[in-house]
This record gives sequence, structure tokens and C-alpha cells, in this order.
Amino acid sequence: MLNGEEGYAVRKSMEILVALGEIYGAERLIKVGSVQVAGVSYHNLGDAGLEFLNELAKDGRVKVLTTLNPAGMDLENWKKLGIAEEFAEKQNLVIEAYRKMGIITSCTCTPYLIGNLPIYGEHVAWSESSAVTFANSVIGAKTNREGGPSALAAAFVGKTPCYGLHLDENRVPDIHVEVTASLKKLPDWGALGYSIGKKAENKIPYITGIKDAELDELKSFCASVVTYGSKPLFYIKGVTPGSENQEPPKEKITIEDADIKDAYAKINDETADIDFVCIGCPHCSIKEIAEIAELIENRRISPNTEFWVACSRMVKQLADIRGYTAIIERAGGKFACDTCMAVAPLKGRFRSVATTSAKGCYYSRQNSMLARIGSLEECIEVAVTGKWS
Ligand code: F3S
Repeated sequence: MLNGEEGYAVRKSMEILVALGEIYGAERLIKVGSVQVAGVSYHNLGDAGLEFLNELAKDGRVKVLTTLNPAGMDLENWKKLGIAEEFAEKQNLVIEAYRKMGIITSCTCTPYLIGNLPIYGEHVAWSESSAVTFANSVIGAKTNREGGPSALAAAFVGKTPCYGLHLDENRVPDIHVEVTASLKKLPDWGALGYSIGKKAENKIPYITGIKDAELDELKSFCASVVTYGSKPLFYIKGVTPGSENQEPPKEKITIEDADIKDAYAKINDETADIDFVCIGCPHCSIKEIAEIAELIENRRISPNTEFWVACSRMVKQLADIRGYTAIIERAGGKFACDTCMAVAPLKGRFRSVATTSAKGCYYSRQNSMLARIGSLEECIEVAVTGKWS
């Protein structure tokens, strides 16, 4: 492969994997069951990235199930979301290059909700940080946090260098986090992720004090804890797989109600004057969309506010069947499939965003927006009335 016997894309990929393996001291390559590729938005890739992908697409074909992270726009309804024609043309070229490679152009950060679902202990090569954390912690699969190029390289070769979180000795928790704070609503999980990420920087938390958690809560926590500092792996005693085999580490910290309150203060911009509400970071599950539909039915989004529901196209299709799409669109909401508020080219379009996601707040600042985190009820209230309740 390295000598080019399987063509250009495989040779380039092997060069990337060998270089990574040498840097991190990997002794061998291991097979991966699936790949998730980040680096899809033309907003981040630019022309240089597009050129790189086109070169690889000439003879590169993926060897394992491979899905994509969000793109810079809804691939079908980009006009409705106010995306410029020139951007859409370039974004479509990016998607076309990935399609040529044999990748499922699903464009979501929740691939585990649409069929890219590894089994416990399986090695995969994923690159979106929240998805990587979910795969490692909630599913119990094994992946490093890949960059876009190294994930793509793993897809062409079907293998990845065996180092880091692929090795059991590196999956041992090194900080005990006792949670005494009460978690009542979804954004509390984002605030918890903020607190743990900051206090347990670059460590693997072993969390006690949480009795149960729903999928959407874990999804939100995964996005937040890794964004704000910890490694893309955690254990929650009695909740996540593998937690029963771990000893609580000696180093211990506590997260109390006061930490959660402090996290809210740090995540929020004080003067956020909301003109954009975006739910779906990470991408919405069908359950979240059902909740949105219930809260928004027979109401009307304020003419001064844009309201987006970000999700994968497949989850939206479920919402179509269940009638949720019609309810949300009747209220003036828009679906943003295939994309999200962080990777869409939104700079200069909105002043401030309200969202249920701590990660969403962090990344919306990269799009030059102020941000405010709230419960789903608060976000919908502000979308309808223009005011926090
Ligand atoms: Fe997903 Fe975008 Fe949030 S990739 S986790 S919706 S910032």
C-alpha cells in the first residue's frame, strides 16, 4: 500500500497512518469496523481542502462503512436557510467527492442514530468529538479522536494505528468525579460537562452519584465534556458500559449545585439579544423533535427570530412520517438537515443564539454570535415571544 500498489489515495492514506503511528509509538495497525469523517463543511475546508478531496476521489474507495459529519448547509433546502449560491456550489462539490469515494453522505454528528452503530469493544476511527466520546463512553467502542484526514485514511485502508484509546491500558479512568448536583433539565448536562471538562482537564473521569441518564442527556454531556477539556472517554458508575470493571481513582473532585450554577454563568453571554434559536447540537433525536413539536404546536415563531431544528436527514424523515415536521414548519420553524450552527456560514447573519447545548454556545462564538443556553421550554419561549421567560 505504501509503495502505491493500490493507487494514489491508498498510498497517501498509508503515509498519514504510518506517520501517526510513528509519532504515537503504535506497534501495528488494527482493523476498524467503521469510520466517521469530519471536515465536510466548505466553510472550513476552503478550496485547498476541496482540491485535496478531489485528488483522493480519483481512485480512493472506502473499505468500511463510512459516514460524514455535518456539512455547511442543508443539502436540499439550503436556499430556505439563506445560504449563498456560490457557497452551495462549492459545498455540493465537496459532497460529490465524498460520494465518489463510496461514503454514505449522511452528514450528521450522531451517526449512531442512523445506523453507524458499533458494537461494544469494536475498534472504529471516528473524528467528530461528541461522536467519539459517545462511541467510547456510551457504546463502549474504541476510537481516538481522529482528524478528518486520518479518519479518511483509515476508511481507505480499513485500519488505523493501534495507540491511545485503542489500548485498554489507556482507557483506565484517572479522576473520580462525585456528582452531588441535581440535574433537572437537558442543559444541566451541558453545564455538568463544562464543570467536569474544566476540572478534569485531559483526564478520564470516573463519575459517581448519577443513577440514570437518557440518551439525549448523554449525547449532550458527551459534546460538552470533551469541548471543555476532558479526554473523549468517561465512565458513569452503573450507567455506562465498563464502569463496573473500574476502580474509583484516588484523585477525587466533587461537582455541586454551585459548580453547575457557575458553569451556566461562564457558558452564557450576559447581554445576548436573541435573534436565532437553534436546537440540535448534537443533532436532534426523534424524541427531541417530538418534544419541540409538542411545545410549539399552535404557536408562531417571532418574525424577528429564526428557529432551526438541526438533525440528520434520516431522523427528519421519521419526523415527516410522524407529522412533527408539519407542526414545526407551520409554526415558522425550519429544519436544518445535514448541517449545524457551528459549520454553516452564519458569520454576520445573527447577533445572538439561544440553544440547549453548551457545546453549541462555545462554537457559535466562532461564528461571531453571542450565546445563551436554556431548556427547550426557554428556547422555544424566546423564539416565540423574543423574551426569556
Ligand atoms: Fe454536532 Fe455541530 Fe454540535 S457537529 S455536536 S451540531 S457543533
